Amino acid sequence: MRKPAWWEQGIIYEIYARSFQDSNGDGIGDLKGITSRLEYLRWLGITALWITPIYPSPMKDFGYDVANYHDVDPVFGTLADFDNLIEQAQGRGLRVILDFVPNHTSDQHPWFRESRSSRSNPKRDWYIWRNAKPDGGPPNNWISNFGGSGWEWDKATGQYYYHAFLKEQPDLNWRNPEVRAAMHNVLRFWLDRGIDGFRVDVLWHLMKDPQFRDNPPNPAYDPTQPEIDKYLQIHSADHPDTHYVVQEIRGVLDTYKDRVLIGEIYLPIERLVAYYGREAGEAHLPFNFQLLQTPWNSRRVGAVIREYDGIIPEQHWPNWVLGNHDKPRIAARIGHPQARVAAMLLLTLRGTPTLYYGDEIGIAERAIAKEFVRDPWERNEPGLGLGRDPQRTPMQWDGSPNAGFTTGIPWLPLSPDCSTCNVERLSNDPDSILSLYRRLIFWRQGSAALMEGKYRQIEFSGGGDLLCYERRAGSDRAIVLLNFGAAHDAAEAPEFAGLKIAVATHAGREGEIVDAKVKLQPNEGLILAPV
Ligand code: NOJ
Repeated sequence: MRKPAWWEQGIIYEIYARSFQDSNGDGIGDLKGITSRLEYLRWLGITALWITPIYPSPMKDFGYDVANYHDVDPVFGTLADFDNLIEQAQGRGLRVILDFVPNHTSDQHPWFRESRSSRSNPKRDWYIWRNAKPDGGPPNNWISNFGGSGWEWDKATGQYYYHAFLKEQPDLNWRNPEVRAAMHNVLRFWLDRGIDGFRVDVLWHLMKDPQFRDNPPNPAYDPTQPEIDKYLQIHSADHPDTHYVVQEIRGVLDTYKDRVLIGEIYLPIERLVAYYGREAGEAHLPFNFQLLQTPWNSRRVGAVIREYDGIIPEQHWPNWVLGNHDKPRIAARIGHPQARVAAMLLLTLRGTPTLYYGDEIGIAERAIAKEFVRDPWERNEPGLGLGRDPQRTPMQWDGSPNAGFTTGIPWLPLSPDCSTCNVERLSNDPDSILSLYRRLIFWRQGSAALMEGKYRQIEFSGGGDLLCYERRAGSDRAIVLLNFGAAHDAAEAPEFAGLKIAVATHAGREGEIVDAKVKLQPNEGLILAPV
């Protein structure tokens, strides 16, 4: 058996850079702020941090509109701050993963300024330019992910350019070898600085249909959905040629030792796993967002785990994501009691867990009043609940003003629960969600069964909304019993008898030896292990 890579044994923690810790009072999180909180991350037990984009940017999409791939935006600090962060993190045994945004740049990037300057500019073909239709309309029906046409008319040169996101985020033309070479240099620039890998933004978008055919209408569309869902994205994304450019990216990483490639990919499971690659490697971890999208009940979640676990090719390693900066927070979606069950689920499944900053303290969401809305998606398509500000509110550290996030005015308002729901308070409460996360993390990291064991769903009698599974590595095993329901419940199976409750979501049960019939309180989760 091959030795597992660090990303197969680790726990990834996403830091939304603007919202973790401000060090200079401008109300926006920064690199020095992150560095000052590394001890907390070590204490929590996570092993790798992924930092959202910190490159110079006009911040139209808060850093996902990059104007220079080789520097740090002054709002976040300097390259020296970045180097220091890497050194300090790695010195504590923490890996650092950087966000890489290859699909599009900012419209302020010098490459795009050149490209739009004239049709004959050498960088014209670095972006996607097309003529208007005879009626003057856009070249096809592709919609921007943030609403409206994906095509923007450029009056000066008389052509449209394509942008899968904002018009200030023009898509690069990855079919152009110069673009690929330039982006490979970007990868090397950061790998040479010692980072441990990349999370690649919208990896499945890189290559588009070379004929730019219309996307077909989505028969299931209804107007409460975002406009992008009007059409099935079969020509604008996930083009088979994408695999080729991902292999090239992976090739660059493979010239370094031990660097991870993680892909942000929203696709059905069978198309998602294609991004592991076949003979040639692609992403080590194509992010698995099933837990963010599946209705929260034991039947649906159980089915999705079975499907995903069953499809991962032998030589590849699974992963699970519970939250990110684009999706509603878990505590807001399923409620606080279930957020504890979700934590136990995430940290006992087979595959690298990724957790989102603040979920470990159960930050819920605050409604963002109109005057505080910052997210361009909410501004473009208001009223559909698409805004992502609620899940990006600042981290809650202590009971001081602004929960210790900033001495200035925070760029987004804090969640109203911040005076009680904060790291300082919850770390002193053994029954808090934070203490539970920590116990789960330490239990996982010390258990061969949970780290690398096989997954098997267990049949049991009784139970309304329960999920039960075993993880086993050789003779080491753990059984996980989760009550997704808000009612008292019980499950019975001979294999439970004589096991000990190792970790419990509720106070007072750890250490208990159970019978074949195990009673569960509402929203309770248990890890059972041999005595
Ligand atoms: C995915 C990122 O996670 C999201 O925040 C961003 O708006 C889009 N990609 C565009 O880069």
